[in-house]
Amino acid sequence: MASVTSLTAHVHQRLAAALTAALPAAGADTDVDPLLRRSDRADFQANGILALAKKVRANPRELASSVVERVVSGDVIKGIEVSGPGFLNITITDRAIVENLAQRATDPVARLGVPYAENPGTTVIDYAQPNVAKEMHVGHLRSAVIGDALVQILEFVGETVVRRHHIGDWGTQFGMLIQYLIEHPHELDHKDSEVSGEEAMSNLNRLYKASRTLFDSDEAFKTRARRRVVDLQAGDPETLALWQKFVDESKIYFFSVFDKLDMDIRDPDIVGESGYNDMLNETCRLLEESGVAVRSEGALCVFFDDIKGPDGNPVPLIVKKSDGGYGYAATDLSAIRDRVFNLKANTLLYVVDARQSLHFRMVFETARRAGWLNGDTKAVQLAFGTVLGKDGKPFKTREGETVRLVDLLDEAIDRATAVVREKDTQGQLSEEEIAERGAQVGIGAVKYADLSTSASRDYKFDLDQMVSLNGDTSVYLQYAYARIQSILRKAGSAEPAAHPELELADAERALGLHIDRFAETLAEAAAEYAPHKLTAYLYQLAALYTSFYDKCPVLKADTPAQVENRLFLCDITARTLHQGMALLGIRTPERL
Ligand code: ARG
Repeated sequence: MASVTSLTAHVHQRLAAALTAALPAAGADTDVDPLLRRSDRADFQANGILALAKKVRANPRELASSVVERVVSGDVIKGIEVSGPGFLNITITDRAIVENLAQRATDPVARLGVPYAENPGTTVIDYAQPNVAKEMHVGHLRSAVIGDALVQILEFVGETVVRRHHIGDWGTQFGMLIQYLIEHPHELDHKDSEVSGEEAMSNLNRLYKASRTLFDSDEAFKTRARRRVVDLQAGDPETLALWQKFVDESKIYFFSVFDKLDMDIRDPDIVGESGYNDMLNETCRLLEESGVAVRSEGALCVFFDDIKGPDGNPVPLIVKKSDGGYGYAATDLSAIRDRVFNLKANTLLYVVDARQSLHFRMVFETARRAGWLNGDTKAVQLAFGTVLGKDGKPFKTREGETVRLVDLLDEAIDRATAVVREKDTQGQLSEEEIAERGAQVGIGAVKYADLSTSASRDYKFDLDQMVSLNGDTSVYLQYAYARIQSILRKAGSAEPAAHPELELADAERALGLHIDRFAETLAEAAAEYAPHKLTAYLYQLAALYTSFYDKCPVLKADTPAQVENRLFLCDITARTLHQGMALLGIRTPERL
């Protein structure tokens, strides 16, 4: 047994069957969705009968009654009754709730009974794509955090995921950098293991500034730098070797940031812009031969009826510049060919800033015209919004510069460490533990804040709010988890065990029915690329657990069986929280 049918799915099936039976006149193609929802009045409410009755010209209350007559109840459905103009209110037996949870708890593959998707495909996720020789900023944070969560969520529901980090590792700026390094040869002479991420970035910053200054002030250097670009593009081995030094130095920095972000980024998945150099020529040839791209003022362009500039003139996608150079678009078009034809992807997902939406619209449409994307393959940009400062404006330092990602992360960790220290009133944690928890809480807070609003929206980066113990924060969830672990530790010889024969309190039912929806939530989050649905679910889980904990004594419950059953509810809540948070890339420390 690997997957468990949720109570929602079970009730849905029964209602749909009863509906079909009650509607002999309806054709086989009639959609008999009972539109089942969790409800406060009963456990579930079905609202679909009204629309169906209208469709088949039946009286909704009569139709509802004949459904009630046909629904088999007793084992899972405790009661079903017509309400209002033709709604159905359904209550579930306590036994079914506990039995269902017990099945999830014993899932031998530790998936809490979550089924695998029926028709999984291959999705290439393009995320966490910083630029070589440049500092990472909050935009890169969003792509990394959202992308990583989607990788985990999609893999968990059974999709084959290929990760691609499309780093910016190519372009004319390398001419200047490489030329400078040739003329100042010992600047990057060290073993990789000898420098920290911070040092690597500061080396790159230094080289960038020095070469820029020279480039802007010294005509002869400028000419040499430009010639170096030509050498680089021609694949001159010495030039490439120096270029590689910059890439390697940057990777030291990238990996240090990803490490701080507690994120598993693997080197083979880093296929930057340069990785498609061999394809650029052919990409342009195919586009030109098929007539998708045309020559315009010396450049190779693709035009769109509906994309015009402020002056009303069409804005083309330039795939090859008039000087023969290739840009960002040619690379992305080549990457599409690689992902569709070599990696055999059905879905291409790009976790990229909304400010690049026009680029992707044009690139996707071009690929469609060229036949590289079609009905079997789709491309989606998950366009995320901007990170704003507390003032509601795009996040900048007081000096008006973009904020360095590492500084933000360090500050989050500092704040969280203070919170952990403060909460540890009994002084139970060692300094080392406080530092470790501080990092887990701080990074969790940053990730959670990013994931808990729908990606397309802007959000305010507000550390005070992010590490607050009350409210929709990861810290709140982490404390709920740690609290459960502490109860389980205190239980002594009492073990969690399901007792389906017991009657449940309302708070227990509400908690159980919510846990039942874990798989559906994941399926939705995966299908809609919406990690915020998972955060909302987990937040509610923690809230329901809190009210259960307030109302239902666990270790002091009336009978040993009830103690065990409540410990069982604690345990499965904790496991669901842990699993959900893990999919979001957030740790759940055992003690806080
Ligand atoms: N490196 C780019 C940036 O920092 C993001 C790359 C997005 N991915 C892509 N396939 N174009 O803005």
